Amino acid sequence: MSETSPQLIRLADYRPPEFLIDAVELCFELDPEHTEVSARLSIRRNPAVGQANGSLRLAGEGLELLALALDGQPLPPDAYRLDEQGLTLWQVPERFRLDSRVAIHPARNTALEGLYQSKDILCTQCEAEGFRRISFFLDRPDVLARYRTTLIADRKRFPVLLANGNPIERAELPDGRHRVTWEDPFPKPCYLFALVAGDLECVEDRFVTASEREVRLQIYVEPQKGERCAHAMQSLKQAMRWDEVRFGREYDLDVFMIVAVSHFNMGAMENKGLNLFNDRYVLASPQTATDEDFAHIAAIVAHEYFHNWTGNRITCRDWFQLSLKEGLTVYREQEFAAGLFSPSVQRIRDVRFLRAQQFPEDAGPLAHPVRPDSYLEINNFYTATVYEKGAELIRMQATLLGPESFRRGMDLYFARHDGQAVTIEDFVRCMEEASGRDLGQFRRWYEQAGTPELSIWGGYDPTAQTYTLHVRQFIPPTPGQLVKHPLHLPLAIGLLGEDGRELPVWLAGEPEPPAAGTRVLEVTESEQHFVFVGLDARPVPSLLRGFSAPVKLKDDLTESDRLFLLAHDPDGFGRWEAGQGLMQDLLLRLVADPKASLPAEFIEAFRHALRAKADPALIAEVLTPPSEEELGEQMAVIDVEGIHRAHRLFGTELGRHLREDWIAVYRDNAEADPSVLTPEAVGRRALNNLALAYLMRAGNPEGLELCRMQFGKGRNLTDVLAALRLLVERGGDDAEAALAEFYRRWSHEPLVIDKWFAVQATAPHRETLVRVVTLLHHPAYDPGNPNRVRSLIGAFAAHNPICFHAADGAGYCLLADQVLQLEPLNPQLAARLLKPLIRWRRFDPQRQALMRAELVRISKQGARSPDVFELVSKACS
Ligand code: TRP
Ligand code: ZN
Repeated sequence: MSETSPQLIRLADYRPPEFLIDAVELCFELDPEHTEVSARLSIRRNPAVGQANGSLRLAGEGLELLALALDGQPLPPDAYRLDEQGLTLWQVPERFRLDSRVAIHPARNTALEGLYQSKDILCTQCEAEGFRRISFFLDRPDVLARYRTTLIADRKRFPVLLANGNPIERAELPDGRHRVTWEDPFPKPCYLFALVAGDLECVEDRFVTASEREVRLQIYVEPQKGERCAHAMQSLKQAMRWDEVRFGREYDLDVFMIVAVSHFNMGAMENKGLNLFNDRYVLASPQTATDEDFAHIAAIVAHEYFHNWTGNRITCRDWFQLSLKEGLTVYREQEFAAGLFSPSVQRIRDVRFLRAQQFPEDAGPLAHPVRPDSYLEINNFYTATVYEKGAELIRMQATLLGPESFRRGMDLYFARHDGQAVTIEDFVRCMEEASGRDLGQFRRWYEQAGTPELSIWGGYDPTAQTYTLHVRQFIPPTPGQLVKHPLHLPLAIGLLGEDGRELPVWLAGEPEPPAAGTRVLEVTESEQHFVFVGLDARPVPSLLRGFSAPVKLKDDLTESDRLFLLAHDPDGFGRWEAGQGLMQDLLLRLVADPKASLPAEFIEAFRHALRAKADPALIAEVLTPPSEEELGEQMAVIDVEGIHRAHRLFGTELGRHLREDWIAVYRDNAEADPSVLTPEAVGRRALNNLALAYLMRAGNPEGLELCRMQFGKGRNLTDVLAALRLLVERGGDDAEAALAEFYRRWSHEPLVIDKWFAVQATAPHRETLVRVVTLLHHPAYDPGNPNRVRSLIGAFAAHNPICFHAADGAGYCLLADQVLQLEPLNPQLAARLLKPLIRWRRFDPQRQALMRAELVRISKQGARSPDVFELVSKACS
């Protein structure tokens, strides 16, 4: 952390490196208090770059320099300069060997970046710029080197010593220590370096690749946790096969390792051959993880594995290209997950996430393009925009090109750029060349921030028997980008006849009608229209099928069109979307007028949806209203209380009106086996717990009885936690008893206790804030563990709108206090936590003032880290 204000880094200033590092030999003498790192770098001038001056600048932070030699000659102090950010060697030859030796202190590393300690394990996190906390280096992703890593540590404390690649040598040392050397044959940027040392249990399996190479699969976890790895292992094997089948990508080393640790800033990290995971995304049993946890584990294991090709074999030239690996890998992860359960349900969840996280980001002070053009702290750009909107941009290219051309584009990308550090432009060019399509206008998606608004209205002409869709796009201004240009986007639509049949989407001018069903139109102008022919009655359009572009759609569908689509759209996503539209309109009406009631047709439509013979998981999604956050997005000024009240009223009413149906649903689904994780069983539990939620919100005594029973059975965490959440939401003695019982039962399971904290932090009660403050002093609270911090502070600020936005500002004050306390320990985590304050402009004047005051307080009393500094300054400007 520097006291001077941090430097703005710009994409336009990118220059290739003046020096390259071909080979790295590292030796770690590991000890939590004092680790010594020796590095031997084979450096040469980059032949592609003209001679500048003879000096070399290496990044390095918090390193205690012990020795430095060039080609074997110790360097005198006047040959170099050492400062807070690194090392400058004044004069270096064309090609040379640099030996450095530094000391670092993993046990004191609370930022969890570089080499740090998690319980008794030593491990590393180098993305994006953590390697400079381990050794002096060219810490940038376009410097690719071969690594050989030797680890030396006490054999008893650290029996397992892991690094990237394959182990090539082991030795016992006379002093009770041992030594292992690893070699990674694939050149990589230093952000993919990793090591792990500890007393770990190993679960082992094998995988035979398509070309019949055998790969050892190992998952390392804290002792006694081996049985909880089965699902992660199974997911890994599925992901490995999927990448072979779908993209022709095989694994490339003899061993693939995953290590789970308790202290981790994010979800997981794709280090070459040695993925590191937040243990919540590895460990699972039906008693300790929910169905949602199981799904996340499969997705994240796959995500990190997929990075082996999209990220590692082909990496980013610079950090502005982050979405090159993240957007593409999220897309691959989503496609993989779609095959595990149902594609519609997967798409629904991804779209919900995009709307809840990315749309607000794109509409606020932190809005940035998928390829940003500047940053102060790169850690702040691991955002929903770079990840999720980035994935949507890949998906749109796949839609525009069609599956065959898209696959050819991917093949070309892998063939042409394997072993390179490249740009988003290189990727798009592969798509163009493989398809023969011009993506010139499409590229604007990577440059322009802001969610486009797409307005569509239709007109039927009975004499001509034509239907015309008028389409208009508008991209709102965002910070630093006031003028926008129209985007190229795929608009997937269907047309439905009176009986719900799919009609051919037949464009005027075409000689023959196409087959009935979805058709992808291409929107390129700010305003344009499409004329469809051969229609003897007004069709009902099913617009933006599968959410074919990440836009805010404003259509002119009537309530009866939506009711029709909810009942008849053959596309599951389309039925859900129609239901969301209906619920959103109704909820917003309830916000404006608390006495508004639920129309009868509406209740009947939802009764019908509930009784439909469909996938229970999809039914559950259809009957889940948009979240309070999503509703807020729709309002000019977010009415915190009004939205909360409307949401509750809606739940109560739908619970009351459909009481018999909810009870019947619960009865029908109740016998699902608690240990089974099939899509069927998972879907039944989801629907069941939704039924229970509606019954509880309606204050139904039978619901309460069922809830108590479900909590008491306690065999499946999905069910137990759902019941606990509902009991706590209801409050009173039942809630207190259930919380106490839950804690007793799971006090030895940190990941389950995280949920115990989160349930309390998200309860929509007046006393919640006081409870959160009390929980900060609970013996199980630990500010050093990011999962625990997120489960209490993060959950309160991000998932409890009514309490966080309490009118007196106490929620804001609590968050600011915590951000200030955490920032010196873990700036990355502090910066992420503070995000709910950023959107202060969206609220009423009183709340705006209170939120802004806390941001100002943070900037005065803290903001010493570039992470927090960048966010508060953008929020206040
Ligand atoms: N590259 C990682 C992923 O997408 C995420 C990541 C980036 C990360 N920086 C990190 C994880 C810091 C942990 C800590 O999977
Ligand atoms: Zn990733």
